Amino acid sequence: MPAENTYNYKVVRQFAIMTVVWGVVGMLVGVLIASQLIWPALNFDTPWLTYSRLRPLHTNAVIFAFGGSALFATSYYVVQRTCHTRLFSGGLAAFTFWGWQLIIVLAAVTLPLGITTSKEYAELEWPIDILIAIVWVAYAIVFFGTLAKRKVQHIYVANWFFGAFILTVAILHIVNSAEIPVTMWKSYSAYAGAQDAMVQWWYGHNAVGFFLTAGFLGMMYYFIPKQAGRPVYSYRLSVVHFWALIFTYMWAGPHHLLYTALPDWTQSIGMIFSLILLAPSWGGMINGIMTLSGAWHKLRDDPILKFLVVSLSFYGMSTFEGPMMAIKTVNALSHYTDWTIGHVHSGALGWVGLVTIGSMYYLIPRLFGRSEMYSVRLINVHFWIATIGIVLYIAAMWIAGVMQGLMWRAVGSDGMLTYSFVESVKATYPFYGIRLLGGLFYFSGMLVMVYNVAKTVSGAKAVEAPIPAPTAAPSAVHTAAHA
Ligand code: HEM
Ligand code: HEM
Repeated sequence: MPAENTYNYKVVRQFAIMTVVWGVVGMLVGVLIASQLIWPALNFDTPWLTYSRLRPLHTNAVIFAFGGSALFATSYYVVQRTCHTRLFSGGLAAFTFWGWQLIIVLAAVTLPLGITTSKEYAELEWPIDILIAIVWVAYAIVFFGTLAKRKVQHIYVANWFFGAFILTVAILHIVNSAEIPVTMWKSYSAYAGAQDAMVQWWYGHNAVGFFLTAGFLGMMYYFIPKQAGRPVYSYRLSVVHFWALIFTYMWAGPHHLLYTALPDWTQSIGMIFSLILLAPSWGGMINGIMTLSGAWHKLRDDPILKFLVVSLSFYGMSTFEGPMMAIKTVNALSHYTDWTIGHVHSGALGWVGLVTIGSMYYLIPRLFGRSEMYSVRLINVHFWIATIGIVLYIAAMWIAGVMQGLMWRAVGSDGMLTYSFVESVKATYPFYGIRLLGGLFYFSGMLVMVYNVAKTVSGAKAVEAPIPAPTAAPSAVHTAAHA
């Protein structure tokens, strides 16, 4: 069959496999740094194994390598299937794959060497920043080029979310990375002082909103209806969800800078928009979960659906918790404590991790000509160890966080602090142990996945699915998800 009559699955396969690989690598580093917080000697007195260097390695690996590869894989798959057309420019798509992998390798080398801009989630130095911008623009051309040559009139909602994610990340990255190079591997931000902080957290929060949320909502809007065999609960709600979410996220960044030198009114705007953000977030969650109406029984024995639906419950939890933490008086307690780490990982492990894993279990057999994964039982095993791992991780961090906050602010009748900082560190130790256990559970689940994927893929043929012939009937909104 001529290539033009098939979907381009090659680049999807490559990104899907690398999602699993980088998931294992990034989480292994997560387990290592969680261990270092208990046994600092695990840095072996080697500069490039110190916590300060491995922590950004962890965040970059899980967000941009694991999450990023998953977003490339699913957006490329979904945009082709829902537009009934082959990906625009196979060559450019291949360039995005190899370019992104090169960026990941450069990050994995430079971060342990201590080469960093020191801006959180934007640590990579200027030559890599330029490469990211080039690859990202190529990604935008492939994605929007595919949308432009679609054979279906309607643009399915998942593509709206993917499109917003691609566009916004381009703007965020380019604006926040404006910097003045002084040597090959050192640059200084183009902004200074409070403005630098404001731009950084406008970027940082929208990295959460668009990289870790909008793109994954695109995944949710395709894979949940597909796996449940049901149309999206309310297409109208999905459109309201889209516009409300992307508008509101933009203004919430200052909640990362409460009680700082940022003007107070800016902080208040951040807080108010964070509270408003609860509504579209929950609208999206409800839309996803209600897609199961009439198909609830499937949850009993379909572990892929379990991954996808439980991910939404964690999305709901973290988007309830986030607005609460954005209230100034609550943030006065939570900021600097492990509560933030608990919040991050209920979003990261619960939402981003589970929706990605569920989508990969859906995708991988289809990309390799198999009807299902090698072992459905092992998907179930993975689901339970991952879920237990998340609960251990986040419960430990919540308790530790609130405890730290209360200990730091406790004062005696003489006005002196009741506890020294070291006492709060000592009190946190047991919780670091529980967090490590939770991390090990979640990580073991990934190893089960590696085994299951290896068995599914080995000996399988790479398939290229045919594009359906155009039909006279206009594509109905609700059936777009069944492409
Ligand atoms: C086995 C799984 C994981 C373990 C054991 C783990 C462990 C850790 C540890 C120990 C930290 C540092 C906490 C601190 O500084 O006090 C951390 C930070 C972080 N992790 Fe993970 N992690 C895991 C998975 C993930 C995943 C899958 C993601 C994202 C998709 C993620 C995103 C982050 C982020 C964004 C931070 C920085 C949080 C902040 O600065 O507030 N982690 N992780
Ligand atoms: C309605 C949605 C959300 C709101 C309003 C929100 C709000 C917040 C607030 C107030 C903080 C603490 C800032 C501080 O004290 O420093 C925070 C931290 C964070 N949140 Fe959320 N959150 C939301 C959803 C999410 C989701 C879904 C994820 C992940 C997928 C996430 C990831 C993070 C990360 C990574 C940080 C740590 C940033 C850092 O300091 O390094 N958030 N969020």
